[in-house]
Amino acid sequence: MLKDYIVKGLCQHVPISEQKIQELLEIPPNEELGDVAFPCFFLAKEWRKSPQLIAQELADNVCIPDVETKAMGPYLNFFFHKGTYGKKLLSNAYSPSFLHINVGQGKRIIIDMSSPNIAKPFGIGHLRSTMIGNALYHLYKKVGYEPVRVNHLGDWGTQFGKQMSAYKRWGNPELIQQDPIRRFFDLYVKFHEEAEKDPALKDEARKWFAKLEKGDKEARELWDYFVRESLKEFKRMYEKLGVEFEYYLGESFYNDKMGAVVEELTEKGLLEESDGAYVVRLDEEEIPPCMILKSDGSTIYATRDLATALYRHDELKGDRLVYVVGAEQSLHFKQVFSVLEKMGRSWARDCEHIPFGLMRLEGKKMSTRRGRVITLEEVLNEAVDRAKELIEEKNPHLQNKEEVAQAMGIGAIIFGDLKHNRLNEVNFSLEEALNFEGDTGPYVQYTYARIQSIKEKSTLKSYGIENLAVISEQYLNQKETWSLLKEVIQYPSILERAAAQNEPSILARYLLDLCKQFNKFYQQNRILVENEQEMKTKLMAAQAVGEIIQDGLSILGLKVPNKM
Ligand code: ARG
Repeated sequence: MLKDYIVKGLCQHVPISEQKIQELLEIPPNEELGDVAFPCFFLAKEWRKSPQLIAQELADNVCIPDVETKAMGPYLNFFFHKGTYGKKLLSNAYSPSFLHINVGQGKRIIIDMSSPNIAKPFGIGHLRSTMIGNALYHLYKKVGYEPVRVNHLGDWGTQFGKQMSAYKRWGNPELIQQDPIRRFFDLYVKFHEEAEKDPALKDEARKWFAKLEKGDKEARELWDYFVRESLKEFKRMYEKLGVEFEYYLGESFYNDKMGAVVEELTEKGLLEESDGAYVVRLDEEEIPPCMILKSDGSTIYATRDLATALYRHDELKGDRLVYVVGAEQSLHFKQVFSVLEKMGRSWARDCEHIPFGLMRLEGKKMSTRRGRVITLEEVLNEAVDRAKELIEEKNPHLQNKEEVAQAMGIGAIIFGDLKHNRLNEVNFSLEEALNFEGDTGPYVQYTYARIQSIKEKSTLKSYGIENLAVISEQYLNQKETWSLLKEVIQYPSILERAAAQNEPSILARYLLDLCKQFNKFYQQNRILVENEQEMKTKLMAAQAVGEIIQDGLSILGLKVPNKM
């Protein structure tokens, strides 16, 4: 917004298009160098003068109301009158068009997210997909897309044969019922141990899976049982996390849709035999072939993903298909998208794998094959317990302690994940994530609660656009206030950037910066002062910050308590 003012003022003095000026303008690294800077190197060639001289000449000639211009080396720097423009910025934050962003133009984005595996614990690994996916959902929506969340449950595959064989051999129904997922998983681990000693087990497992594929009653009932119990647990987790899905369409949903894929691949001459199996070669793409049919004729993960993509495009009418899945599956998605292209689906270019790095819990890697798995539920519960302890320590008289502890504990985990660039590995520490004074979810939540308590103590009861008249320039010309307001008006462009880059961390880090600026402002400024107009003006600024925090945290998937 500040850049816009400069563009208007500068365009009469330089022979460059408004758009080009807009691109050239910079925000100086520190405020001593002004609010906006124009580098003069670009003009030096054409005007055959040094950029220093050009900066000096422009400084003498350019005149923008309430903006001071100064040449500083090769830069022309602009210093805005804080009060005048502070009022403009603050009013802008209240304008109805402030958050009206429509880069998405109603296009439908199908988001593949979470997608845990049946009969396996919901590990920390799926947390990242769930939270990043959910934040992207809200971000896309905010900028005008029509996003759809789909849970591609891992509910099919030969591992179910192993699961059934193990269940039939060693399963104790009563014991299992006490903690189904953990027991399913124990059985699965046992199967792998025993199968090393007795290879016949693998055959047995194959037979069970074949039965399942043929619709055998017993196999089917067992499978139903695994799915039912797993979904119960997953849904409990989603509820804690505040995440919903428009569709649960597991891999098994595509069982009757893969024949058509194999047929089409065959017709188009794309299938090639390789050691008894069938693959699509991807030599031109310089990646290994994509396996479509195993030597026993069964379809696999990639085949199901091909059928899935077709369904999402043709039936769910997705304009873009995105997959929030760990970086370790990058090759898989490259293969799937390449095969789609080869099948003549030009929209394959609108398919995108959105990868993310590994997450470690206090240095430990999550393992799902062997050994102890730390389940997400254990982590969530511990976070809430520790949040409770913190509340007891800091604010024992707080009402709704339980609710606040949930918001804070779960919020700490979500934010602790989302503040990292998604491709980075995250070494998650609960201690750190809960720290009120660190770069954490609770810090941002706490700043929001502080703003609410200031408002509560004041006499100003309404903060709508109708109140803009109470804003007085006189009380906005202080350095910290100005820095804060400049941060406030960044919000819409932050949302756009975060959505365009599929990067919730851009929003998370912005919220941290905004809170830091607010807390600086609050240290330098008493808000609840005698002078009515001063108080109201500052409250309007605080409220603008509060609204952004609330909006931003909700996008990331955090709850925002009024008191903490
Ligand atoms: N269930 C898979 C896993 O846990 C993730 C599925 C991702 N989505 C997909 N369409 N392949 O590894």
